[in-house]
Amino acid sequence: PDLLESEHSAVNSLSELKSEAEHCRRCDLYKNATQTVFGEGSRDAETVLVGEQPGDKEDLAGRPFVGPAGIVLDRSLAEAGIERDRCYVTNTVKHFKFEPRGKRRLHSKPNAGEIRICSWWLRSELELIKPKIVVALGATAANCLVSKAVRITKDRRRIFHPEGLPPVLVTIHPSYILRIRDRDQADIETREFIRDLAEIRKFL
Ligand code: URA
Repeated sequence: PDLLESEHSAVNSLSELKSEAEHCRRCDLYKNATQTVFGEGSRDAETVLVGEQPGDKEDLAGRPFVGPAGIVLDRSLAEAGIERDRCYVTNTVKHFKFEPRGKRRLHSKPNAGEIRICSWWLRSELELIKPKIVVALGATAANCLVSKAVRITKDRRRIFHPEGLPPVLVTIHPSYILRIRDRDQADIETREFIRDLAEIRKFL
C-alpha cells in the first residue's frame, strides 16, 4: 500500500492524534482550508470507513461526511444494518482542496504527494483503533490502502489483505451516486452500494 510508514506516533490516544493534526503543515493544503477534518468515532470501532477528502460542508463543520455524500453514506449504512455511530469515519486526506469558482468552492482531487504525506495520519488512526475491517470508499482510499492497481468497477466488494493493515473492503464513493442523473440508475447503484456495505457484517 501507498501508506506512509508511521514511525509510531508518540501519542497513544485518538484525541491527542486529532489535536496534533489540527496544526498539520506537512503539505500546503492547510493554507486554504478552514480547518483539519480529522476522523470521528469510537476508539473501539470495529469498522473504519475511509473516504477521499473533506468536501465544502465538512471543511466548514470540521467533521467528516456531514454533507450530501454523508447523507447517502448514512442512509446506505442503515439499510445495510450497520450503525454509523459504531463506526469510525475518516478520510485519506484531512484538508479540503478546492478551486474557487465565484462564490463556490469546487472540489479538486488531491495529488499523489498530498495523499502520501497525509496517509501518515490514516495509518496512525488505524494503528490505534485496530479495526476488524476497513472500508475504502472510492479509488483514492483504495489506491492508498491497497494498491494503485485497484479499480473500483472490477474490484468492488472484494476484500484485500495489505501487509500490516486490517482487511480492506473496496466499494464506490457515495458521491458517485450523487452524480448519476438518471433516477433508476441511481437507485440501482444505491442498492449495489448497500450490498457492498453489508459485507462489513461478516467481519463483526
Ligand atoms: N467526501 C469524502 O470523501 N469525504 C468527506 O468527508 C465528504 C465527502
